Amino acid sequence: MSARTDTVLPTPDKKADADILLRVEGLKTYFFTRNAVLKAVDGVSFTVRKGEAVGLVGESGSGKSMTCLSIMRLVPTPGARIVGGEVWFEDADLLAMSEQDLRGYRGRRMAMIMQDPQTSLNPVYTVGDQVSEPIRLHLKERGERVMAKVMEALRAVRIPQPEVRVTQYPHQFSGGMRQRVVAAMGLTTHPELLIADEPTTSLDVTIQAQFVSLIKDLQRESGTSVIWVTHDLGIVAQCCDRVNVMYAGRVVESAEVRKIFKAPQHPYTKALLDSVPVKGKKKKRLYQIDGQPPALDRLPSGCPFWPRCPHAMDICKEQYPPKTSAGVDDFVHCWLAEK
Ligand SMILES: Nc1ncnc2c1ncn2[C@@H]1O[C@H](COP(=O)(O)OP(=O)(O)O)[C@@H](O)[C@H]1O
Ligand code: SF4
Ligand SMILES: [Mg+2]
Repeated sequence: MSARTDTVLPTPDKKADADILLRVEGLKTYFFTRNAVLKAVDGVSFTVRKGEAVGLVGESGSGKSMTCLSIMRLVPTPGARIVGGEVWFEDADLLAMSEQDLRGYRGRRMAMIMQDPQTSLNPVYTVGDQVSEPIRLHLKERGERVMAKVMEALRAVRIPQPEVRVTQYPHQFSGGMRQRVVAAMGLTTHPELLIADEPTTSLDVTIQAQFVSLIKDLQRESGTSVIWVTHDLGIVAQCCDRVNVMYAGRVVESAEVRKIFKAPQHPYTKALLDSVPVKGKKKKRLYQIDGQPPALDRLPSGCPFWPRCPHAMDICKEQYPPKTSAGVDDFVHCWLAEK
């Protein structure tokens, strides 16, 4: 049974659900260009519970990275601006706090691993220097304790011979090992939330699989919550408890992973699942869904998926579908769910 929840929701009691680590509510991040306002993130809401791994999936340009950068308050400036919404980390709104207060969270209680390790590592410093930075900055460690923590972090991400590797430079590492260094930098402060933005995209398939299972193991060991940004539904199936499907800057469906694979509600989610290659079956490749995602400066009215949707009705072209609840945290935005 679905229940419509687009009417004003009661303000959630921030302390009522002690299990929730992160609550993103109505987040809006726009790009202000000379010719247009691009709504890269347009009212995104989702939650991450303690110890939970939550996937953010969607085609390129759907707003996944901008959502994560907004949570960290690291949107590119000038150009992008967070113009609305709230991001609650336990009982503190990250968007409302001062930059100084934010330092107690960013890099310490929450860390982000970016897609390309090249941009996260500085070629002129040794790996040891770089991994020690968050230890000095956030944990305020000094002297021998810094090196002990660096070694601990390198061992945690299973870098062989850390005592040798610690004095080497990024170019002496393979792509997979570099990404582990970036993970070590992120994990060294034992953050409660790790945001991994397509961290395996630049790696080859075998190394990808190793990195994914490494993060999964680390998550299990430490109870860290993870936001996995990926276009790979295989990673979602393997690693995530919940998944948020994004399209044109909005979350169109949010559900437990088991449920979404068994009974996807949104036609876009179904299309994504249909395009996953299945062994022995001839299928379209992932994201070879007919048509293109819309350009943000030319969004169709109503549901932005309608030009590609096999179920589009008149109302879809006129009005954005309301949020229909499909369980405690589960919801979908589709007029079909209203039927
Ligand atoms: N530097 C930029 N300047 C203008 N628009 C941008 C810029 N970066 C991203 N965008 C816009 O924001 C949208 C979302 O981007 P992004 O969050 O990076 O997508 P994803 O991570 O899902 O591939 C893009 O479709 C694009 O229109
Ligand atoms: S609202 Fe309409 S166009 Fe959009 S996904 Fe649902 S059925 Fe398709
Ligand atoms: Mg991205």
